[in-house]
Amino acid sequence: MVGIIGMEIYFPRTAVRQSELEKFMGEKEGKFTIGLGQQNMAFCNDLEDINSVCMTAVANLLEKYNIAPTDIGRLEVGTETLIDKSKSVKTSLCQLFNSHGNFDLEGVDNINACYGGTAALLNTISWVESSAWDGRYGLVVCGDIAVYEEGPARPTGGCAAVAMLIGRDAPLAMGSIRASHMEDAYDFYKPKLDSEYPTVFGQESNVCYLRALDGCYRRFALKYESANKTPFNLGQVDSVVLHSPYNKLVKKSGARMLYNDFLRNPDLPIFKKNGEKRSWRRYLHTCSFPPLRYAAKVEPSVLLPQELGNSYTASMYTGLLSLIHNWHKPKAGAQVDTEEQAKGKRVLMFSYGSGLAATLYSIQVAGATGHIAQAANLEERLKERKFVSPQEFTETLKDRETKYGKFDWSPEGDPSELFPGTYRLTKVDKHGRRSYERV
Ligand code: ACO
Repeated sequence: MVGIIGMEIYFPRTAVRQSELEKFMGEKEGKFTIGLGQQNMAFCNDLEDINSVCMTAVANLLEKYNIAPTDIGRLEVGTETLIDKSKSVKTSLCQLFNSHGNFDLEGVDNINACYGGTAALLNTISWVESSAWDGRYGLVVCGDIAVYEEGPARPTGGCAAVAMLIGRDAPLAMGSIRASHMEDAYDFYKPKLDSEYPTVFGQESNVCYLRALDGCYRRFALKYESANKTPFNLGQVDSVVLHSPYNKLVKKSGARMLYNDFLRNPDLPIFKKNGEKRSWRRYLHTCSFPPLRYAAKVEPSVLLPQELGNSYTASMYTGLLSLIHNWHKPKAGAQVDTEEQAKGKRVLMFSYGSGLAATLYSIQVAGATGHIAQAANLEERLKERKFVSPQEFTETLKDRETKYGKFDWSPEGDPSELFPGTYRLTKVDKHGRRSYERV
């Protein structure tokens, strides 16, 4: 089966606490931590741009999985963090491969808000399945530096890049059923080419997200039922991983899937078990999720999205990595074979990009995944972060504003503050050419 063989994440070392940010921004206590459900937010200074962030993720994946750069035959990028209207991020990543003699590397960038990572993954899966496949691995990297201007959207920023090694006989096998929802919408977009910030109609984007979820879920259920001759509902999957702009929306979306199950089949035993059918109708309005259901199906995948914030194209894949981490986390006092427990698990993946493009697909655990959790080493790496004040975070974003789209400058940030092995920008020359080095 074709799918994901290995995963690596990069996130910046610097982060701001949402509990401090809500106070700093003059909001009532709990607005960002409970209202949005977010814990912390990763961000970077002028030392990093989208090229360097993706370079770090790719270089770390190759090293951790001991893959020679010449063993990669296709490299696709998903991002919406644009620093050039023509030159792809992929071409900047080529320096990691060209230096090893690999110039035969198909693929470029995929752009549509937070959906680009999924587009890159689906393309790369198709390449491995196709007659054009040359026997080498595919590599997908999705990453973004998500920043918003001052205002209600600012706490829903974030930053991360996820690199994924794609091939045959993969432990995370792609399911054959997919359902999409595509529309022309202006919920979140970036028409200001001289600014890093998007134009966003936040509440409308939430409505678009849920409408796309409904469309994908219903179509997925119909396709599943037609292929398997058996009814589909949330009970058929072990976990749900959703694109995570902020945790509250993810929670509501899990409930929304359940509500769709109710509309399609109100006689399912789960609805009888939890009381009157009538009470389920209120989920349409409140989108609340029975706590036990959330804990079982959705919560195991929310660690990184809550800690790092919205990393746009990488967001759902940070969720998948969180889920794998959770499967293999040592459970207090219990001696369990985590590989045995994870085997066969079915995961539903919902990818949403404003504008809008959305796809629901599934992954099945067909082999060992413990090595992915081990390589990612999430708990240790999260502990090594440096938390700064909301004031410093705000000044850093102001500084990024002054440098966005400018030529002939060198970053002033302190490279010793970065995680060891991080690529950093060293210069943007007078023609807009960028240079990098690894710290
Ligand atoms: N304690 C607890 N909860 C609180 C508090 C408080 N003190 N204050 C408010 N809340 C709750 C609200 O009741 C609300 O909960 P609800 O959604 O269950 O009703 C929640 O916090 C959010 O409050 P709002 O007033 O709705 O939020 P606001 O208008 O400030 O902005 C938004 C939220 C729209 C998400 C904004 O941050 C934004 O525009 N973000 C970017 C867009 C985005 O992420 N869209 C999602 C999909 S598209 C994408 O991925 C980019």
